[in-house]
Amino acid sequence: MCGIVAYLGPRDAVSVLIDGLKRLEYRGYDSAGVAFLNEGSLKVLKKEGRIAALEEQLNSHKWNSRIGIGHTRWATHGRPSDVNAHPHLDCSGKFAVVHNGIIENYGELKASLEKRGHHFVSETDTEVLAHLVEEAYQGDLCAAVRSVLRQVRGSYALAVLSEHEPGKIVAARKDSPLVLGVGKGEFFLASDIPALLPYTREVCLLGDGEVAEISGDGFRVLNGDGVFLTRKTFHVDWDQEAAERGGYPHFMLKEICEQPRALRETLGGRLTPDGARISFEKLGLRPEVLKSFQRIFIVACGTAYHAGLVGKYVLEKLARIPVEVDLASEFRYRNPILDQQTLVLVISQSGETADTLAALREARHRGCQVLAVTNVVGSSVAREADHVIYTWAGPEIAVASTKAYTTQLLVLYMIGLLFAEARETIEPEEAAAIVAHLKVLPEKVEMILEERELIRELADRYSCCKDVFFIGRGLDYAVALEGALKLKEISYIHAEAYAAGELKHGTLALIEKGVPVVALATQEELLEKMVSNIKEVKAREGVIISVCCGEKREVEEASDHLIRIPDVPSFVTPILSVVPLQLLAYYMAAARGCDIDKPRNLAKSVTVE
Ligand code: G6P
Repeated sequence: MCGIVAYLGPRDAVSVLIDGLKRLEYRGYDSAGVAFLNEGSLKVLKKEGRIAALEEQLNSHKWNSRIGIGHTRWATHGRPSDVNAHPHLDCSGKFAVVHNGIIENYGELKASLEKRGHHFVSETDTEVLAHLVEEAYQGDLCAAVRSVLRQVRGSYALAVLSEHEPGKIVAARKDSPLVLGVGKGEFFLASDIPALLPYTREVCLLGDGEVAEISGDGFRVLNGDGVFLTRKTFHVDWDQEAAERGGYPHFMLKEICEQPRALRETLGGRLTPDGARISFEKLGLRPEVLKSFQRIFIVACGTAYHAGLVGKYVLEKLARIPVEVDLASEFRYRNPILDQQTLVLVISQSGETADTLAALREARHRGCQVLAVTNVVGSSVAREADHVIYTWAGPEIAVASTKAYTTQLLVLYMIGLLFAEARETIEPEEAAAIVAHLKVLPEKVEMILEERELIRELADRYSCCKDVFFIGRGLDYAVALEGALKLKEISYIHAEAYAAGELKHGTLALIEKGVPVVALATQEELLEKMVSNIKEVKAREGVIISVCCGEKREVEEASDHLIRIPDVPSFVTPILSVVPLQLLAYYMAAARGCDIDKPRNLAKSVTVE
């Protein structure tokens, strides 16, 4: 939530900041601002609305700046407005601060600052930081920032620029992401790595509670006690194109279409040489350790939580181990029953979601081992978990998660196989057969993508509807939940998912003539029951859009529209059946003219509770 950038070096700082903010806009987009030193004097420009509005304002003048900080906001404290946009200034106007996170004790800090004569102009928590730096400053910006951080509670990634020390930026982070990019004679700060890629691939990750000072002489990192730390940079070999739209109208469509590659990369390199078994190199979970767990808790938010719901079916079926799935925001406050024989599996695309991170910490605090499934190397979740498995989906930029979800599912199947082998609940031949099915999934996803025009036509036809229901049984129910989330978050159409067998206990009352109901009917052993549920909807004149696997005459006859996915065993259908639902949501949102990559009120990475 919220994106931060900073630049110091020979380039035009304003252009670098705007470019970086555009790359981070997915993190928040209700207002944006920059602070830079223009020929030695501190300039601050900020604007409600998208970055384009700020850019227009900046373009009305020729600036001469080599150092600056910038911010794109997702409002937490104070509504989106010019005045609440970052950067925030102190009373003297000499210190500018950008901040991502929440200062929890800002109320008391603000009250005492006001008593001491400070004048506040915004409703934000961040503004206290600027005033505190002003008070603490005694000729050393880095020391002032460190002393301020000792007074604040909460989470932050921040950057501070001051006219008093024109060649310096001081940054710090705790529980919010911030990376330092090191170029030749230039330095960058950003909330994520892709924002740095056009400029440098040498990156230094700042640890929790650390403070960095960058200047023309280099960078130095200190811990909270002021002790200098040795920090090496590492080389990022991500493809920059992967973080750009590459001809697609939206990142979301690009990312949907990247799923075959993402799945191949997530599976590739994780197979034994004979290709029959899963093997995660460097994963410290040996078979005897896997065997020692009596229970698994899957904890995640949003789409990652939906992946976890599929994971429950998969792990319980393959490894016969009880699995509970919990929303991270619930898990952490409900005193869950955990012990050392419980493995906590956290799933997070970004690896920075505040609730997921807090749940991870709670689990570790209670003595559980934590296995993280994440997409971002070096993310907080990756660093703090005991064990990590990466989904190699590549940068996911669109707020609505797609390729991260399918690769998370794939990893959950792989974890299921690992557990099953260790617990001896699967015969080697059966395991090899499942692996063989997983290997061909990328091609099958390609087949669905080739047929996407059909889904677009369907989407155009129903794009004006007010409500859409998604129903399914078993694994199809878990996928239905994800289909409904995709549709509501980007098209703003009211969408709800129900276990098909539950319809008659309430939801059926909402079905009337013409209401579209997406019926997932891919589970062979539940097909008859599912066809009965479809008929219940038909009898109330709902419009049935079915998703089935291969030729299924009984489903076809009962439906108004049919989306056929390639024939695969019921057990692995989720990785395929979600793809038409992603496309349906995408094309419905496109037909309604929605801002698909940046849906209202949402953000990609939710680093606040
Ligand atoms: C936000 C995003 C979702 C994502 C969720 C969890 O709500 O908009 O797409 O599923 O956060 O994010 P994570 O990075 O932890 O998977």
